[in-house]
Amino acid sequence: MSLVIRNGEIVTSEDRYFADLYIENEVITAIGKNLEVPLGTEVVDASGKLIFPGFIDPHVHIYLPFMGTFAKDTYATASVAALVGGTTSMIEMCCPSRQEDALEGYRLWKSKAEGQSACDYAFHMAVTRFDEQTEGQLREIVADGTTSFKIFLSYKNFFGVDDGEMYQTLKLARELGVTVTAHCENAELVSRLQQELLAQGKTGPEWHEPSRPETVEAEGTTRFATFLETTGATGYVVHLSCAPALKAALDAKKRGVKLSVESVLPHFLLDRTYAERDGVEGLKYVMSPPLREKANQQVLWDALQAGEIDTVGTDHCPFDVKQKLMGKDAFTQIPNGIPGLEDRVNLMYTYGVKRGSLDIHRFVDALSTRVSKLFGLYPRKGSIAVGSDADLVVYDPEYRGVISAKTQHMNNDYSGFEGVSIEGRPSVVTVRGKIQVRDGAFVGERTRGYLLRRAVQKAVTEASDAG
Ligand code: URP
Ligand code: ZN
Ligand code: ZN
Repeated sequence: MSLVIRNGEIVTSEDRYFADLYIENEVITAIGKNLEVPLGTEVVDASGKLIFPGFIDPHVHIYLPFMGTFAKDTYATASVAALVGGTTSMIEMCCPSRQEDALEGYRLWKSKAEGQSACDYAFHMAVTRFDEQTEGQLREIVADGTTSFKIFLSYKNFFGVDDGEMYQTLKLARELGVTVTAHCENAELVSRLQQELLAQGKTGPEWHEPSRPETVEAEGTTRFATFLETTGATGYVVHLSCAPALKAALDAKKRGVKLSVESVLPHFLLDRTYAERDGVEGLKYVMSPPLREKANQQVLWDALQAGEIDTVGTDHCPFDVKQKLMGKDAFTQIPNGIPGLEDRVNLMYTYGVKRGSLDIHRFVDALSTRVSKLFGLYPRKGSIAVGSDADLVVYDPEYRGVISAKTQHMNNDYSGFEGVSIEGRPSVVTVRGKIQVRDGAFVGERTRGYLLRRAVQKAVTEASDAG
């Protein structure tokens, strides 16, 4: 199977130039002007289009038993949605609860994906308790190619770890050369504030944010950074939402803590007033950390442009209206999460690149290249170079459209971005050289995707130690 993509403008995290791309046996084998290709090669004309490396979402939930229910997507639905939106690889949080066995959980999560995914995928392995078995199990999981962990400092008694468990996880991660990703909110404070608000009769979704204020996230971020500093481990803050937490992360980076920062799509575009909407509307916008005061958005855009925020994910986590209504009488019972996997690239392109808040190379970096570098996928993914996987997004910057739940591929009955305009969308999307999407329609192989086994990041750890 060979493919040539002609006349497009290639845009990577560093370069921008016109060239043809020739693809054979799943990888890019030649880049140049007017490439001569064998007869029978499939041709895509990319005139007037941009060509990006396939985008990688570093933070999604697909199979997720959580808050008494299950997130709505399966790999069959989520991977198609990802591809239609230009995401060719995704990293799912593998999240067995504190009551479950980690290794059994890992096998279960893998079984949900294997043979079901149209795009490539990997996992961050959540460590939700640390007991006598954990070290051995984590070594086995890392040996299987899942070389990043996830810890939650919130969600007490379910996913959350205490400080001792965080310390043990980071020590092991340091030894293994594994990056630890962390949800940084102070569990105790969240729990106390939730109970106080409910006791005062403050039960609606608008009270979700006051139950997890910015200080609570800043504290979690500071504590995580302190533990990284003490153990020498490498960390990654997920879904950072506000200025005080950003300051905590940047202060730590400045003093040499090995820490990267992710923010997620909803925090760039939505604010706390969405959760204050009447009736079921407000429930749709409950996620953690919560949607914040609008003033934080500019802070996030500026930090993203400056590279202080390293990556942009989605924290894709779809619960439908019926599920959200589980929390109609108490905001603590609203399943947390907002879907976004399909919309990240188009919205960040429209409201970042097109509106002038985000340089196009930083856009590619934050949504693809840096993700791949941080999580052991580079240069196989996140790169347009000879030898890299031919995961490519031929992007139409002239497309105009509007997001709607009626047309989305994500398995949910609402969109958090209903009615929002987009200016650009993928025209052709390939996964290892196979055309999977044409103009918003999935046209490819539903089981093409596979598990990306990753090498440990020793090199990253050692380089940081030296520098
Ligand atoms: O609200 C969110 N973010 N739901 C998914 C679980 C998590 O914290 O990432
Ligand atoms: Zn989280
Ligand atoms: Zn998440």
